[in-house]
Amino acid sequence: MTHLSLPRAPYPTTRMRRMRRAPFSRRMMRETRLTPDDFIYPVFVLEGQNTREPVPSMPGVERLSIDLLVAEAQQIWALGVPAMALFPVTPPSAKSLDAREAFNPDGLAQRAVRALKAALPELGIITDVALDPFTTHGQDGLIDDNGYVLNDATVEVLVKQALSHAAAGADIVAPSDMMDGRIGAVRAALEADGHIHTRILAYSAKYASSFYGPFRDAVGSAANLGSGDKYTYQMDPANSNEALHEVGLDLAEGADMVMIKPGLPYLDIVRRVKDQFGAPTFVYQVSGEYAMLKAASQNGWLNEEAVVLEALTSIKRAGADGILTYYAKQAAIWLQHSH
Ligand code: PBG
Repeated sequence: MTHLSLPRAPYPTTRMRRMRRAPFSRRMMRETRLTPDDFIYPVFVLEGQNTREPVPSMPGVERLSIDLLVAEAQQIWALGVPAMALFPVTPPSAKSLDAREAFNPDGLAQRAVRALKAALPELGIITDVALDPFTTHGQDGLIDDNGYVLNDATVEVLVKQALSHAAAGADIVAPSDMMDGRIGAVRAALEADGHIHTRILAYSAKYASSFYGPFRDAVGSAANLGSGDKYTYQMDPANSNEALHEVGLDLAEGADMVMIKPGLPYLDIVRRVKDQFGAPTFVYQVSGEYAMLKAASQNGWLNEEAVVLEALTSIKRAGADGILTYYAKQAAIWLQHSH
């Protein structure tokens, strides 16, 4: 055969790998950087003194009595984490059909708020507004004879609960119940009661997710809920436009911050919400996400520090201004020695 001349491959006009070649230039173009300011630490609060209980489905997470919780709060504050979210573990004897323990001024959550604000006034304290820790059936609201969660009757109790949290000194109340109209009702009641500075973090796009299982074990609502589900009030995981509708309503009703929950499987929603509304947007990396990352790491299948920081970075990159994560303390420690 005679000489065959092939066209010479041109050099790439742009070599994307130049900037990736060394740590210094990777650092120069890094768009998203985690700091402890990005984290909110969710904690489970127990009755008792000097009492800690591990949560079996969340290795590394413990339920703490108030005295131990204050010590934990001091640690996370020193690490630079700005806020903590409280979830009380209600003794079965305090649960009822009408969930009246939810607004007991001396309830576990209310006492925990007072103790934390006394010890550490600057740490932001967030309380959960929902009835599931207090109902005998584990639903987030009051039910009728058919087990259907009643909207307006529930909102009346949520308002009392939020007021009791604000009176105890909570900086932020966070309705996680998904009843209609509860943000407006809570806002109006807070204003009327003089709590004009109490912020509302609305769980606006809260999906009926199967990733909440370990949390329900942790607060002790799983057994009460049994085979029940929350499909008549939490959102269908298949929906996206509905999340925008929910966020729009909550902002119009007076929410200061909105939340999308769970995290990693819902980052498309986070991006849409942030782009459309530009409001302070938070994401809950939920118990099942924690359990997955922890279990795989404990098996030696994933590098825990690397995957957790990657997941948290991805949530921030998608548009989150802050992340509720059971890894908050550990991630803040990891960030101290990484850059
Ligand atoms: C209930 C509530 C849930 C979570 C936070 N608040 C569970 C549920 O809706 O059943 C889940 C958090 C997690 O899984 O980490 N109001």
